[in-house]
Amino acid sequence: MTRRVSLTRYLVEQQRMDGRIPPQLRLLLEVVARACKRISFAVNKGELGDVMGTAGSENVQGEVQKKLDIIANETLIEANEWGGHLAAMASEEMEGIYVVPNRYPQGEYLLMFDPLDGSSNIDINASIGTIFSVLKKPEGHPGVHDNDFMQPGSSQVAAGYCIYGPQTTLVLTVGDGVSMFTLDREQGSFVLVEENVTIPEDTKEFAINMSNMRHWDEPIKRYVDECLAGKEGPRGKDFNMRWVAAMVADVHRILCRGGIFMYPWDKREPQKAGKLRLMYEANPMSWLIEQAGGAATNGRQRILDIQPTQLHERVSVVLGSKNEVERVTKYHTEA
Ligand code: AHG
Ligand code: MN
Ligand code: MN
Ligand code: MN
Repeated sequence: MTRRVSLTRYLVEQQRMDGRIPPQLRLLLEVVARACKRISFAVNKGELGDVMGTAGSENVQGEVQKKLDIIANETLIEANEWGGHLAAMASEEMEGIYVVPNRYPQGEYLLMFDPLDGSSNIDINASIGTIFSVLKKPEGHPGVHDNDFMQPGSSQVAAGYCIYGPQTTLVLTVGDGVSMFTLDREQGSFVLVEENVTIPEDTKEFAINMSNMRHWDEPIKRYVDECLAGKEGPRGKDFNMRWVAAMVADVHRILCRGGIFMYPWDKREPQKAGKLRLMYEANPMSWLIEQAGGAATNGRQRILDIQPTQLHERVSVVLGSKNEVERVTKYHTEA
């Protein structure tokens, strides 16, 4: 009989083997997974569960909030605030940090999340997800401040996402490769389906929102033009294109079969920041991609090396198959 390894067992074994997961981090990851399970069930109910449509409010990014953005945010907070493993949380859907209330013990970790990624897919019954990133609170001072979150992605101690698609799958790294767990809805537990996920170094598939083409900077234009030129062009091969409009789904495809994903800044933004958020989208996804043998840059610099200065900081993202990401980065640095 094949050995069925639940997420719980996997985390316990990781803790035992080399202490990579301290007990408090193990608890944290269990709780995040439990929250994702709850979100998955809410997503599944759809129109039958009063979870569709907009909530009539805006988040700090100026985006209209969907009901599920708020439900997912609250589910993650409620699940995580009382366990004693966290000091504070930060989210795309909250303006400031959420410090664990005094009535609960304070832990040593910081949790960041994009509670519901791919919001525009909710109402069309297409894949969405939850992205999360875990940091350790710096020592040496009582309480917790915004500044404690200003750590580069290379300081993450755990990161992952849960995709709510035809299957609900949790993808996780604690710095020792990438593992995937699919939700067994009858048993109610996540079951290991793949370990040591690896992304091929080369690819013939790119993902970018082409409707922004006229606003792109030259290096991105050059890269995509060369892909579109196909066999007859300088790349000497035909490329395919995909765009799910949910970063979780586009990154999941890349972890499954390779590819390159780009959400670059464009000329409409003088700040030269992109659309995606550094702390709870770019950093966790970049670490997963690197752990699977891929690369992630903002066009010029490794994303995980960026020193954040703001909670809701945005960044250009180029990630996926190593050789393609290096090519795009080269086009930027040569320009
Ligand atoms: P969110 O739903 O959390 O705000 O994130 C949406 C992001 C990301 O998931 C996706 O890659 C991108 O927005 C899609 O943007 P376009 O609508 O511009 O294609
Ligand atoms: Mn949003
Ligand atoms: Mn998102
Ligand atoms: Mn979101």
